[in-house]
Formats: sequence, structure tokens, C-alpha cells
Amino acid sequence: MAAAESLSLAPSHPLDPLTEEEIQAAAMLAKSQLGERASFCSVALVEPSKEALQRFAAGAAVPRKLRLVGYDYPAGARPDGGFDALVDLVSGAAEIRRISHGQAPISYADVVAAVTIAKQDPGWQAAMRQRGIEDFENVQIDPWPASGYPHASIPAGHRAHRCISFVREDKADNGYARPVQGLIAHVDLTAGRVAHLEDHGVVPLPPESGRYDAASQPRLRPAPKPLEISQPQGPGFTLNGNAIAWQNWEFRVTVHPINGLVLHQLGYRDGGELRPILHRAALSDMVVPYGDTDPMHRWKHVLDAGEASIGNCVNSLMLGCDCVGEIRYLDHVAINPNGAARRVERAICIHEEDYGILWKHHDGHSQTTEVRRSRRLVVSTFHTVGNYEYGFYWYLYLDGTIQMEVKLTGIVGVSAVPSGKERPEFAPLIAPNLASPIHQHLFCFRLDFDLDGPVNSVYELNTEPLPVGEDNPDGTAFRSVARLLGSEAQAQRNVDVARSRSWKVVNPNRLNRLGAPVAYRLLPGATPTLLAAPSSKVAARAGFARHNLWVTRFDESEINAAGDHPNLHPGGAGLPAWTQEDRSIEETDIVLWHTVGVTHLPRPEDWPVMPVEYCGFMLQPVGFFDRNPALDLPAH
Ligand code: CO
Repeated sequence: MAAAESLSLAPSHPLDPLTEEEIQAAAMLAKSQLGERASFCSVALVEPSKEALQRFAAGAAVPRKLRLVGYDYPAGARPDGGFDALVDLVSGAAEIRRISHGQAPISYADVVAAVTIAKQDPGWQAAMRQRGIEDFENVQIDPWPASGYPHASIPAGHRAHRCISFVREDKADNGYARPVQGLIAHVDLTAGRVAHLEDHGVVPLPPESGRYDAASQPRLRPAPKPLEISQPQGPGFTLNGNAIAWQNWEFRVTVHPINGLVLHQLGYRDGGELRPILHRAALSDMVVPYGDTDPMHRWKHVLDAGEASIGNCVNSLMLGCDCVGEIRYLDHVAINPNGAARRVERAICIHEEDYGILWKHHDGHSQTTEVRRSRRLVVSTFHTVGNYEYGFYWYLYLDGTIQMEVKLTGIVGVSAVPSGKERPEFAPLIAPNLASPIHQHLFCFRLDFDLDGPVNSVYELNTEPLPVGEDNPDGTAFRSVARLLGSEAQAQRNVDVARSRSWKVVNPNRLNRLGAPVAYRLLPGATPTLLAAPSSKVAARAGFARHNLWVTRFDESEINAAGDHPNLHPGGAGLPAWTQEDRSIEETDIVLWHTVGVTHLPRPEDWPVMPVEYCGFMLQPVGFFDRNPALDLPAH
């Protein structure tokens, strides 16, 4: 009985999500070498190579290798970045690698420690009393990554945070209504002390509270009428473990600590053939750089994925609130600092949505109308990272379109500002004496295309007006110009809305019925790039954000756009380093990296909680099919 049970728990596919048992077994193996001091920040499945995944046959032995990242201070012992352990559950071998550049990411244990250290510091307590704050119980401390700015007095190799404070009326209050302006505690976590207290002077707390729960509102509007979404025959997709099939689409889904929601082996069943499109598609890292010159904010540029492990911050979703309709969920299992597994129930939401009209035409001659409704499959997660929430939504459509939509919500960063001292170009007022600094959110998505196989090329498409001339006498002509991006240096590109710029991945060795290579095109939104100076620390540490597009030659070690250990890393890792070689990207296995985002100029309507803002991109078949692939959709 016990044997049968453990067999049923054993993974049957190399991309099956990690189980509690696997995580705990791997943590034990790592600890047997590291000792009990090991504190775990994250765990991830080491995904087998493309070749190994292709070779894998159902029923074969499943390789299971886990990567556990963490640190083992205190000790005064090793001032390094912690450990990055590879544990092979099949052989029982654990290989411990030390992190020499950067640090293991921020963990929950760090956050708790930083808060405790700051609150116990006599200097911090004195600075709070100077501001008339005596009740430290209701002070909320947000530890921020020191990013590129650990205080000079904190030795290299020590883990560092910058702690900023907010005052709550009670435990349930929204602390962001009352930021403690001017005060930053530089915490040396390794030494367990406040290394430096930065105080720019006392500013009064803003007067208003910022509660956003229903009970705190003066009145509520009548509730909207019930809207019920029902699928009496059940959902239209099938779920087998983490493998999903829906309307010709087939793929797998997991959650990764840095990359968050990951789509694996996405293909489209075309006739009898399952045609590969994306081997792996996910966030690779992200950065939130602040533009305000205020010393409270100008150093802020958190890499919520690489530094804060956005995947560890995945929410447990609630039916009827986070998701409506005929929903299926998948759990995610993460790791606690002590190596115990932590299950997040209902982490990945999967459902279908009606999406209006897919295609339509009314024929005036015959007075007939043909119309089909659009439907999309939605696969999503939501993540809370400090004051902000990020939702990642993959949409798959009936016509072969793929879309990524990022949803940004939560609570904006804040400053207390005395009347008459407002600086709206840097930090617009959002409530009386409360300002919110201008900032960006830049997300870099890694799109590992295998379009009908691994050998692909990338073109840039620009629409250009023609000069007036013999063949363009009226000056009306414009044309599409396709240019091959031949090398990694040539493929560092930005959006150009005026030229309707897009990028096209082609398989030069597979032609459609019109004789053109099959292709998918990346349609960017009107999206910014990093505004900080190229010489800035954020530009060095989050170099991916300097361009909307990068293309690299595939290398299985190149997954995270800012490098594997960006916490307290001085910069230069990731995309800018990999592309130094300027490898050829023509007719080879390529990876697209697309940076999208928003430049957020906060508005009063963003307070006290921000209505969702959106950004993202589309991937659209261009001659991948021979005609509209949704002609075969039955009429209603
Ligand atoms: Co924002």
C-alpha cells in the first residue's frame, strides 16, 4: 500500500512540478553538507535539456534535479553570496556551489530579521521619538533591497537592506498613508545591526488615513447585478497533471522562483501534426526604477523577480474573487527557510473566457452574415511583492494568437510632503500631503522559440513611407521592409510606434503553401525602455531594460536576464554580458527577450489602492498557417 502510494506520487514527466516530498528530501541532502545553518531562499526544478525532453518517452525513468539557493550566515565565517546547490534526487548527490558574485535572493527570513534589527536599534527609536512616534508596535517597516547601494560601512559579502517606515493607526490600517519621511535604516543582516541611520529631517505625517476595505468606506454603491458564467458541460480544456490541452493548443505550466509562471513546450495541433512554437516562455526578470531625485527614492530599483523571487510570492487564489467561471487550479510548492515545503493552494488559475467577436462579415448581395465568437484560454498567477501586486496572464486564442498581459495593482510608493513643497514633476500629490514618486515597471520576457523546430531566424519589420517619385507620384505609398537581424549586437532594438515596428521569428526551412517561411511575429505595445542614465547602477544591474528587444543564440544557462544572483550584484551580468560575444543568430536556435512595461506617473485615482494597469505583447502567426486557422470553427 505504502509502495503504491509513493509510486503514484513519483513524477511521470520531467517537467512535473516539484512535490513536497522532493523538496524536503533535497533540502535534507543539501543540509547534510551545508549544516543546520543553511537558510533556503528558493527551490527550482532543473529543467532537462531540450534534447532530453524531446527524447523522453512516457514510462521512462524521470530525471529529478533540484536547485536550492540560500545562505548560511552568521558566523563571520564566509563573507560570500551564499550557496547554489544542485541536488540529484535519483542518485542522491548534492553539489554545493558558492555564489561569488551577488547574493542569494531576499528571503522571508531576511525580511523578518531586518524589521527586528531596525526596531531594536536605539538610533532608529530615537529618530522615531523625534517624530512624535512612540508606539513602535504599529510601525510598519518595509525592508528594501539595498540594490546597487549597500551602505559603504557594510562589508562586501554581507547581506544588506534599506529599511523605511510607515505608521499604522492599528494593525489593520494601511501604513502607506503615513510614510515616515526622511529616515532610512541601513541594515547589515549578516552582522545583525543597523550599520547607518540616514536622516534627512522631520516631515509631519500626512493627515488622512488610507483604508481601502469595504467597511472603511463612507458609503457603498449598489452591487452590480449577478453575472454568472457557467459551462454546464465542464471546461473545454483537459488537465493531466500540469499538461494542458485546449482547442489545438498543448503545453505544460509551472511556477519558477525567478521566472514566475512558465509555459513549457507550447505547440499547436495542426491536422495530425503537433507543431512546436515556444519551448519555454516566461518572465526572465524585471526592475522597478524610481525617477524621483528625493534621497528616499532615487536609489530604488528593485528586481522583483531576481532579487525578491517573485515566484515565491505567488498568491493563493479565491474562486469568485480572483477568478470567475469554470476554473481549474494548480497548486505550487515552495520552500521555507528551514527546508520544509510550503504548499500554495490554487496558485495557477486556468479557465476559458468569451472574448467577443473572432471574425465576421455581412454580405450585402446575399444578405447573409457569418460570425464566430472568440474564446481564449487564460492561464494566470498573481504575486504580492511588498506594496505591489503583479498578475501574469497568458492568453491563447482560437486563431493561433498568443498574448501576455501583465496586470499591475496594489499600493504605490509614497512620500510625506509639507504643504508648499510639492514637486509634481517628480512626485505628484495623490492625497493631502502625500505624494507618489514617478517610476517605471519594466518586465523582460524570455521567449525560447522553437518554431517548427529549433532552427529559426529573426527579422525586424518596419513600415516606411516612399519618397515622392515616378512610382509614387501622389506621395501615398509606404512599404514593409524586412531586415534580418544577423547577430546579437544587431538585435538590440527598441519599439518604434511610428514605423509599426515588429519582429518576426521564421523557420527558413519550412515553407507555407505560398512558398514563404512559416513565421510568428512579436507585436509590441507602446512600451518604454529604461530612462535612467547608461552610467547608472540600475542600467548596469538591469541592463535588459535598456532595450525592448534582444535576441541571443540559445544557451541553456541563460535564463535570467539580470543573471542568476542579482541581489547585491554590482551589475553587468545577464544579457549585456552574454551578448558581448556577438554570436550569430541566423538559422540557429534563438531566444527572444522582450522588455515591456509602463512609466508610471501616479494619479489621485491610484490612491489608496491602484486600479489595474496593463502592459504586455502579442505573438501572432504570420504565414504559420495557410489561411485563417479558425475557419473550421462551427457557427453558433
Ligand atoms: Co507603478
